[in-house]
Amino acid sequence: MTSLLVTGASGLLGRYLLDAEWSDDRVVGTYHTTPVEADHETVHLDVRDREQVERVVERVDPDVVVHSAAATSVEACEEKPELAHETNALGTKHVVDAAAAVGARVVYPSTAYVFGDDAPVHIEDDEPAPMNRYGRSKLDGERYVESASPAGTIVRFCVVVSIDRADRSDFGSWVRGQLEAGERVRLIDDQQITPTVLTDAVDALGYLIEHEETGVFHVTSPERMTRYELGREIAHRHGLDPELVEPIPMTEMGWEAPRPRHLCLGSEKLRRYGYETARIRTE
Ligand SMILES: NC(=O)c1ccc[n+]([C@@H]2O[C@H](COP(=O)([O-])OP(=O)(O)OC[C@H]3O[C@@H](n4cnc5c(N)ncnc54)[C@H](OP(=O)(O)O)[C@@H]3O)[C@@H](O)[C@H]2O)c1
Repeated sequence: MTSLLVTGASGLLGRYLLDAEWSDDRVVGTYHTTPVEADHETVHLDVRDREQVERVVERVDPDVVVHSAAATSVEACEEKPELAHETNALGTKHVVDAAAAVGARVVYPSTAYVFGDDAPVHIEDDEPAPMNRYGRSKLDGERYVESASPAGTIVRFCVVVSIDRADRSDFGSWVRGQLEAGERVRLIDDQQITPTVLTDAVDALGYLIEHEETGVFHVTSPERMTRYELGREIAHRHGLDPELVEPIPMTEMGWEAPRPRHLCLGSEKLRRYGYETARIRTE
């Protein structure tokens, strides 16, 4: 029986991790500002507070900590670099150190934003070169996990989307909700992504935990597309009007944080382990 501590269990990914079929062992989740209703125990945790992290990890005494808590808004991280650093870098150090003290492994969801625009697709062995402060702070977090003892696991995702369900605040659910309401959706068409299907993210984490794999893994769909193309695919899948989806360039978003035009990860390493991620295109 594996005992899991999931930080950030009130977030998109953490909430699914709490309910995942593979996590029917002892699971405790943490929240920061948003308490969670769940079948499992949940506790408050601010990862910036080193002593609180130590207390929670020591009391739960897990085998594995899935450290999903993070400051995830790319724009907020750009505006408040100290928030990004304290939460994503130092917070991860606190978790890594506390996990080491109880002999727990750390599994760390990370992001394609650790890479720059030097290649159309990045694999696990490529050298990170983040273009914005979110990516920098997540990379700093990765460095702590790389030096963890026992050895940790870094699992990078691209844009996490649910494509066949609509019950969360992810990109896929939002697009579907807008189209069902007959609203136009304007989506970026000059940035390539390799979306991570939410169920793949959760299942792959379960697979890597169960098989005690360590090192770096990418988990994304094998298909490259823009958010505009993804939005039209979601429309097709649900019998909604794809003409309501309109293409826009990134410049129309008014973003402060620089972003690569290619936010794409290659997941061949995971496929070599026999693990297949979902395809998104139906045609
Ligand atoms: N979603 C994506 O597209 C995506 C893509 C690539 C990588 N990732 C990575 O996957 C992980 C999960 O992402 P997500 O989409 O689930 O994020 P999310 O929905 O924004 O949730 C973030 C979680 O972190 C918690 N949190 C924030 N600040 C905290 C702090 N100081 N102390 C403790 N907890 C704190 C939040 O708690 P409260 O809500 O209770 O405040 C929430 O539970 C992150 O590490 C992210 O970098 C996500």
